[in-house]
Amino acid sequence: MATHDDHRGRRVPLRWDRHLLGIEPLTAEEITKILDRARVLRHAQITGERPLAGQSVVTLFYEASTRTRASFEIAAQNLGATIVSIASSSSSVKKGETVWDTGRTLAAMEPGAIVCRHSSPGAPHLLAAAAESVGHTAIVNAGDGAHEHPTQALLDAMTLLDRLESLEGRTIAIIGDIAHSRVARSDLFLLTKLGARVLLCGPRSLVPRTLESLGGTIVRDVDDIIPVADAVMMLRVQFERMVGPPPFPSLGDYNRTYGLTVARAERMKSDAFVMHPGPMNRGIEIDPEVADGPTSVVAHQVRNGIAVRMAVLERAVGRGPWAGAS
Ligand code: CP
Repeated sequence: MATHDDHRGRRVPLRWDRHLLGIEPLTAEEITKILDRARVLRHAQITGERPLAGQSVVTLFYEASTRTRASFEIAAQNLGATIVSIASSSSSVKKGETVWDTGRTLAAMEPGAIVCRHSSPGAPHLLAAAAESVGHTAIVNAGDGAHEHPTQALLDAMTLLDRLESLEGRTIAIIGDIAHSRVARSDLFLLTKLGARVLLCGPRSLVPRTLESLGGTIVRDVDDIIPVADAVMMLRVQFERMVGPPPFPSLGDYNRTYGLTVARAERMKSDAFVMHPGPMNRGIEIDPEVADGPTSVVAHQVRNGIAVRMAVLERAVGRGPWAGAS
């Protein structure tokens, strides 16, 4: 069983089969199982099955969110769970309570799962160790700093597979502020595990060379990858995570050099499509006409987020295809 350091540096075991802390530790088979279940649950939203009746799901967000939080809460509601929403700004975090103590406190109330977003990489891992010190609550990472955003990667994969059927041998371009992007890291892990070639592009200081050791291929000129990609994923410039001024002369210059402009989008393969995890900086990394145009699948990504998060919550509490697993 895998282990993790607790708040005193002691090694503690973690239930990787229930927690979802990242894509990196998952196998292609585990990813496929979640995606297969999400496709079934996409229709169960209509049939009204309630596999999480009697369970509660806590959403604990230390950072802002629209899509992830709302879709986890809709997912939990669709499955029949009771939802407890905690924003750090109105919780005992404001009195100085640590992640460890918050985790132990919430887990002592025995919710089925705690869905956590935090600005620090590894915070959900600490929360998982805290939860396991008092009970069996599963932790789901809803984004930890620039580390991972596993459910975003799963919904991205589901969206890609809705169109491409298989990712084996496909070319996916990820363009923009990759250095600050937990989405890029999780997508890189997931897409390469499922056989895709991932091309990364953006300003030199926002596309670290280390990403090549994780399986990505860095391409310096965006115009070299637009015509060869089966899907083009644009990423937001995360101004709020930058120390000092952004590493490009102006927003207009960024748009001209790296943005998915109308002219660039016209050079995509005829059946290629555009993705963006949101929120978008319209007119910077993507032109509004492209974001809302016929090749954009952004709304489809958002919709798939509900089904993926339903599957992840089932896995967290051992329901559906995970019922009876140890
Ligand atoms: N994609 C994403 O994580 O969006 P939110 O920050 O709105 O949850």
